[in-house]
Amino acid sequence: MTGPAGAKVAVLGGRRGLLGQALVRALAQAKALPLAVSSEDFDPLDERALTRFLKREKPDWVVNAVGYTAVDQAEDEPEAAFRLNRDLPALLGRVCAERGLLLVHFSTDFVFDGTSQTPYRPGDEPNPLSVYGASKLAGEQALAGLADTLILRTAWLFGPGRGNFVAKILDLARTREELTVVHDQEGSPTYTRDLADWTLALAASGTRGLLHLANAGRASWCELASEAIQLVGLPCRVRPILSAAWPTKAVRPPFSVLDTESFTQATGIAPRPWLQALRDYVFGDLKLGNRGA
Ligand SMILES: NC(=O)c1ccc[n+]([C@@H]2O[C@H](COP(=O)([O-])OP(=O)(O)OC[C@H]3O[C@@H](n4cnc5c(N)ncnc54)[C@H](OP(=O)(O)O)[C@@H]3O)[C@@H](O)[C@H]2O)c1
Repeated sequence: MTGPAGAKVAVLGGRRGLLGQALVRALAQAKALPLAVSSEDFDPLDERALTRFLKREKPDWVVNAVGYTAVDQAEDEPEAAFRLNRDLPALLGRVCAERGLLLVHFSTDFVFDGTSQTPYRPGDEPNPLSVYGASKLAGEQALAGLADTLILRTAWLFGPGRGNFVAKILDLARTREELTVVHDQEGSPTYTRDLADWTLALAASGTRGLLHLANAGRASWCELASEAIQLVGLPCRVRPILSAAWPTKAVRPPFSVLDTESFTQATGIAPRPWLQALRDYVFGDLKLGNRGA
């Protein structure tokens, strides 16, 4: 495959999902033919509906940007999380393999427990701390060994089209003098527009298997919030707090920075720093009003 130009690509979650919408835009810009699919069209877990769709539309690839992404809620709804995060990729893997279609699937930094001192590589041992992380790991395992499959672990997404941490923080900062934000969790903030472009480059490079894909650099939630508020110029202070002072149902890894070296080796692309990407989001998308829900 030389590039996505001309390829028909079905993007599950492509109409309303944070990442799915970015993928549809990137595909259109790359002169592919994206098909943005929503759960309003059919239930992707309904095998008959899914195969009817594939027979009718005959896509060249399938991208799964569907996920059960409510990390805390998953603690109370493990069955729902596993259905979407494990059973759906398992089904997609099988039907795509039967038809010889490339399947691109996304996973998460939350498969790790955060005990590493250095950025996580794809081959590092996962040990999820939450139901969400465990369900995403089970999804990866369901696809392991399938030939024409890309499994991309990513992290801490921000971008236009749907609610995300940065947009929520900026909304709060408009009405508050001070925000308290967790400072003892470090990760890889990632811009959905960059991630979508890199996903297409990777798919076109012929690389398959499990890779990490994120913007360069690392940040705590507190640093990410502070930078976004400072860029916009809001007079809101950001006070760092420890996770222990902000209890959540799901336990998050204290460190989940992703090493993207294998992506760079495969494509020659060095991901740009998250701060540069954040500027484009704040001065581009948010200025244009693409804030999302
Ligand atoms: N957001 C992050 O920070 C982050 C970090 C690491 C990895 N990821 C991974 O990246 C992928 C995309 O995440 P995202 O943040 O873009 O997700 P998102 O905005 O929450 O969108 C997920 C999509 O999943 C679909 N969906 C949800 N429940 C469904 C159900 N019961 N049946 C069918 N479809 C359902 C929805 O499609 P409809 O709108 O059509 O119903 C929704 O648009 C996921 O695999 C996620 O695990 C995300």
